[in-house]
Amino acid sequence: MKQLSVKREHFFWKEIKEICAASRIEESRQFCQHGITSVYSHSLHVAYESCRIAENFHLQVDYYALIRGAFLHDYFLYDWHDRGHKHKRPHGFYHPGAALKNAMQDFTLSEIEQDIIKKHMFPLTAVPPACLEAWIVCVADKFCSAKETVQRRKEAVL
Ligand SMILES: [Fe+2]
Ligand SMILES: [Fe+2]
Repeated sequence: MKQLSVKREHFFWKEIKEICAASRIEESRQFCQHGITSVYSHSLHVAYESCRIAENFHLQVDYYALIRGAFLHDYFLYDWHDRGHKHKRPHGFYHPGAALKNAMQDFTLSEIEQDIIKKHMFPLTAVPPACLEAWIVCVADKFCSAKETVQRRKEAVL
């Protein structure tokens, strides 16, 4: 897949900066997602890859909503590996709801943005995405998670 076009790359980072300034998402730098990847880095990867998928396949999407929904899809703000933490379990099933709740406290989210966050764990959660943007993030999340997990295994072996 090709890199993002210069114009879209610029738009991407502008939106990421705005979300950082208006939310607590930078707190997710302290929480580990997969291996050595923080939740923050994972969320950034997923947002970037979602844009790359949309652009490379010439998909008609709302890039603004795609970036916001993707970057906030794991905005649950706790260490899900911490057995002492009182989050709802299993994490895989409940964290989209926690992420949506936090995101709604900081932003007014569109239907597309809400759908992205709520449905990104499909098919673990039963209801499939209702819009193209949410399908893209659902795929990008699995792709990035697999890549981050393989990276960890490689580092453990080498
Ligand atoms: Fe997630
Ligand atoms: Fe994720």
